[in-house]
Amino acid sequence: MSDWWKNAIGYQIYPRSFKDSNGDGIGDIKGIIEKLPYLEWLGVDFIWLNPIYASPNFDNGYDISDFRAVQPEFGTMADFKELLKKAHEKNIRIIMDLVINHTSNQHPWFIEAAKSKESPYRDYYLWENATKEKMPNEWQSFFGGSTWTYHDLTEQAYFHVFAPELPDLNWKNPQMRAEIKEMIQWWLDLGIDGFRLDAISHIQKAPWDFPISTNPWAPFMNVTGIEAYMTELKEIFDRYPIMTVGEASGVSSREAVDWTSEDGFLNMIFELEHNVRKGELGSERIDPLEMKKVLFRWQKDLDQKGWNALYVENHDNPRIVSILGDESEKSAKAIATMYILLKGTPFIYQGQEIGMTNYSFTSINQIDAKDTHHYYQTLLDQGYSSKQALKIATDWTRDHARTPMQWESDSSAGFSTGKPWMPINPNTKGLNVARQKESSASVLRYYRQLIQLRKTNSVFVEGSFDELLVDSPQVFAYLRTEKNRQVFVIVNMGAEEVTVKLPETMIAQVWQILIRNNESLMVKEQMQLEPFDAAAFETQLIEEKYKKEKQ
Ligand code: NOJ
Repeated sequence: MSDWWKNAIGYQIYPRSFKDSNGDGIGDIKGIIEKLPYLEWLGVDFIWLNPIYASPNFDNGYDISDFRAVQPEFGTMADFKELLKKAHEKNIRIIMDLVINHTSNQHPWFIEAAKSKESPYRDYYLWENATKEKMPNEWQSFFGGSTWTYHDLTEQAYFHVFAPELPDLNWKNPQMRAEIKEMIQWWLDLGIDGFRLDAISHIQKAPWDFPISTNPWAPFMNVTGIEAYMTELKEIFDRYPIMTVGEASGVSSREAVDWTSEDGFLNMIFELEHNVRKGELGSERIDPLEMKKVLFRWQKDLDQKGWNALYVENHDNPRIVSILGDESEKSAKAIATMYILLKGTPFIYQGQEIGMTNYSFTSINQIDAKDTHHYYQTLLDQGYSSKQALKIATDWTRDHARTPMQWESDSSAGFSTGKPWMPINPNTKGLNVARQKESSASVLRYYRQLIQLRKTNSVFVEGSFDELLVDSPQVFAYLRTEKNRQVFVIVNMGAEEVTVKLPETMIAQVWQILIRNNESLMVKEQMQLEPFDAAAFETQLIEEKYKKEKQ
């Protein structure tokens, strides 16, 4: 089936932090192979692997120096092929990260390009005349500082939306595009099952004199002209029964239709809008109402027209139970219920399925992420004390998601026999896979139940989406309807008790429980919800009523 991904559950692996098989403190491919039975037991259908390609690791693999080689820390190409084979034997597909907005500055193309203006690779990147004092424009990069770096030898500056170590490729260059397409085909011919396209909405840039007004990143967010490049990529993807998911910041929910419809560029995209923050700097949380508005707007705008990629965690964000929940098992289950039953393909980030929490960083030296270091330095320059700067800079650092996966209760978390590259969260003592596998009431078992529920009920794939309780600032409620089958999902995303009134038409129906995290939850006209209560119920719509609704 070419759209197998509609009925699939994804699991994201950050290889560095998943499972170390050789004791060097860094997770690796053999470690992933070891854990395939676990993923099979959990019920996931595909793995999205963060980059495993050769890289100087300025940005942990997102700075690629050889697209066709495996990073030695992670293993060999033979290991990768074994992973692919063993995963396929278990009906688990493998999606690779595809990083084609930029390369590493250690990639042979960039090394050559930097040698002289006449290099045949010069035009693979974006160079402009500049002086040390004056860059071609004032645009700012994602990791902080100018998007330009001056290059002494050739007396020009090169462009980068992230960092100087990640120079942007010049998509206007047909030769460069041909090489990228060949590389894509090479991986697909190896038998992989698709790609997550990194930073893909940035490959086209506005003219260099584009004036910045409110959004500093507007000149490289889904800029007109990108369609031509995406169409070229689609031509290759269409030849294979694969799935494609784009990291597409700046693509609005309306524009996402062009990206994800039947003849869209990709099968689905990740929106990057829903983590709307509130609270004081240094202790910010997600605003549940704003998050609900974003998620539900994407549901409505793509209903029948496109397809959503559903997620609440990834390798770039703090742990969701720490910024939306209250770190309790109950809140982890509430969050899972809220998003996994929406319309789209759900992704689970490693450790999310056991409710892993943020780490309390006590020193900037524990931080690996370059953007966090840059932010910390900026805060010091602004006059914050080192204590304040640490608190603010580490509050939302992506390194929270990169502490090792908690498999066991011992101090190494069963992750490695060596010294782990990132600190292990001491709460692994009570919060780990081994323990949760044994307990029927655990977050892990709840995720497994939700996954089964989704996979065995077509209403979650095909069913329409309708929002309920629109005005509630903390209750996420919706209906999924397919023919005469209806599912009602309700989640109190707040730490306060709340009572909601349900529409009379719903009360007339007989509802069966599908899943809940509080045994006393039932559908009632006045539904009283305790903090982080969550449930899904189903009903058969009476034929007449169903017909009337459809008229
Ligand atoms: C987005 C990735 O998710 C992030 O981890 C990375 O730093 C940037 N793209 C640069 O590739």
